[in-house]
Amino acid sequence: MNELMNQQLSFLIEDTDYEISILSNAAALLNESMNDVSWVGFYLYQNNELFLGPFQGKVACTRLPLGKGVCGSSAADKKTYLVPNVHEFPGHIACDSASNSEIVIPILLDDQLYGVLDIDSASFDRFTKEDQQSLEEFVKILAKRLLQLKQ
Ligand code: SME
Repeated sequence: MNELMNQQLSFLIEDTDYEISILSNAAALLNESMNDVSWVGFYLYQNNELFLGPFQGKVACTRLPLGKGVCGSSAADKKTYLVPNVHEFPGHIACDSASNSEIVIPILLDDQLYGVLDIDSASFDRFTKEDQQSLEEFVKILAKRLLQLKQ
């Protein structure tokens, strides 16, 4: 999980024009590259809610309210949430009871909320500040390509 993964993402999406294909391969790449993760995927923003997008892992909640839970808070605040113990997070929405820590990164296209990247782990305190940095870079690469497709 590092610079190599982000290079692979750039390569993987540069010639892909279809949004769902881009997000699907991005989820698969994260799942292959990161150890000790139980769920990785996207929630997409529409009509003031978050809707389940491409992911890898167990079946998950299909709709999440904005401003609630980790994903909804990250989306509403437009900032990354790194949660070492989800059971201590007020209003945490447990789609998978095996999840103990979580990181959620908002995806912004020209400052507009597009959705979030959500990654869960069965381990407590799984995600580091370094993970946060490289995942924020990952999302930037993704957002740049998604924005190109909309122009
Ligand atoms: N735990 C998340 C919900 C999404 S899933 O775990 C896949 C939350 O609190 O927003």
